[in-house]
Amino acid sequence: VLSKERMILQLSRSLSRTAPVLRRSVHSGTRPASTAASKLSADRPLNSEDIYAREDKYGAHNYHPLPVALERGEGIYLWDVEGNRYYDFLSAYSAVNQGHCHPKIIAALTAQASRLTLTSRAFYNDVLGAYEEYITKMFGYDKVLPMNTGVEGGETACKLARKWAYNVKGVPKNKAKIIFADGNFWGRTMAAISSSTDPSSYDGFGPFMPGFELIPYNDIPALEKALQDPNVAAFMVEPIQGEAGVVVPDQGYLTKVRELCTKYNVLWIADEVQTGLARTGRRLAVDHEEVRPDVVILGKALSGGVYPVSAVLCDDEVMLTIKPGEHGSTYGGNPVACQVAMAALEVLEEEKLAENAQRMGELLRSELNKLPKDIVTTVRGKGLLNAVVIKETKDYDAWKVCLRLRDNGLLAKPTHGDIIRLAPPLIIKEDELRECIDIVQRTIMSF
Ligand SMILES: Cc1ncc(COP(=O)(O)O)c(C=O)c1O
Repeated sequence: VLSKERMILQLSRSLSRTAPVLRRSVHSGTRPASTAASKLSADRPLNSEDIYAREDKYGAHNYHPLPVALERGEGIYLWDVEGNRYYDFLSAYSAVNQGHCHPKIIAALTAQASRLTLTSRAFYNDVLGAYEEYITKMFGYDKVLPMNTGVEGGETACKLARKWAYNVKGVPKNKAKIIFADGNFWGRTMAAISSSTDPSSYDGFGPFMPGFELIPYNDIPALEKALQDPNVAAFMVEPIQGEAGVVVPDQGYLTKVRELCTKYNVLWIADEVQTGLARTGRRLAVDHEEVRPDVVILGKALSGGVYPVSAVLCDDEVMLTIKPGEHGSTYGGNPVACQVAMAALEVLEEEKLAENAQRMGELLRSELNKLPKDIVTTVRGKGLLNAVVIKETKDYDAWKVCLRLRDNGLLAKPTHGDIIRLAPPLIIKEDELRECIDIVQRTIMSF
């Protein structure tokens, strides 16, 4: 058995041996630099090109990032390694609703991180219950099941729906069905891609999960037809389809979904991972129609972008169908996640972010609607979840527009070739938003 001192000595020796090797292999002949991004550089700070090349060499090629290498964020701003400042108009796909590195959320993170980080659910801890009480009272559900990523929230909701179908509704064993809408996106696990209609999500990854069926989005007659099958456990749907390009259903769609799910004894699962938590101008997007889903999935902004935190909310009839040992996650509901989530939710309320998102969203859309329709064919969205559709020509497309937006100091990401999502942190103020609108207008007009 090694003494503690010898172990520390051996560890520090092995670290001092490996560190220079690492440095040389990454950037030989460069001087040490001060920024975090350039830790591995021996001679000069890493520039953006170095950073792209390193990720390209050592990382999987499962993303196609816009070429900008970021090293710092604060509020609505991001800075690249060359010190250029940008407005963030993606908000990490709506995870950073509260703004980058919100001081209250970071304080909650660091305070809890130095006290107790993880016990697993094998034991009780003194934070989980406080968070569970807080979030269930805030959203008006009996219980919460904490997970980490959004897609785990979706998986959890599907498992709950199947259990409920067998134990409560009386669906025969292994016959339960879950209905999804075309264009849905809820992540990248095998179950999530099994419900996807986007070939870039599912192609080459089969065979797929049985018991999933698809209907068109925003189509009430199709829903009613599907729900008549007695083996249907749930209809899982985004109140606004985010990844599909901010597709907003007709006014009244969610009310009808509620009515039909009640009529046919089917659970309505609202995937609010992207639309929830003030993004669309209400606490939840379903609040626009004042309807209550049976199951709500939250993620992303539940941590304000500092930690993977997701949650499934529902009442006892559904939640208590899952018994001890039947579902869980090592990190789900850990004390850090719980403190971070409580702080993130408090910020939404204290800073009235839903109200601000509603007001700023109206301003953004009304100004963007003044752009020439032969370039920007559509402007759509709710609150600060918005998209513009760019008419592609041989001279420009959404990617080229995003590159020029970047050059003009605003970061947005194209999707599906012709759509650009415009979704800044919800703390953005009117004068800042007007400056951003000016950048977007100038950029579009420069084509
Ligand atoms: C509506 C919706 N659900 C679920 C997810 C998956 O979340 P995560 O990437 O945290 O797994 C996303 C991610 O974009 C989403 O937009």
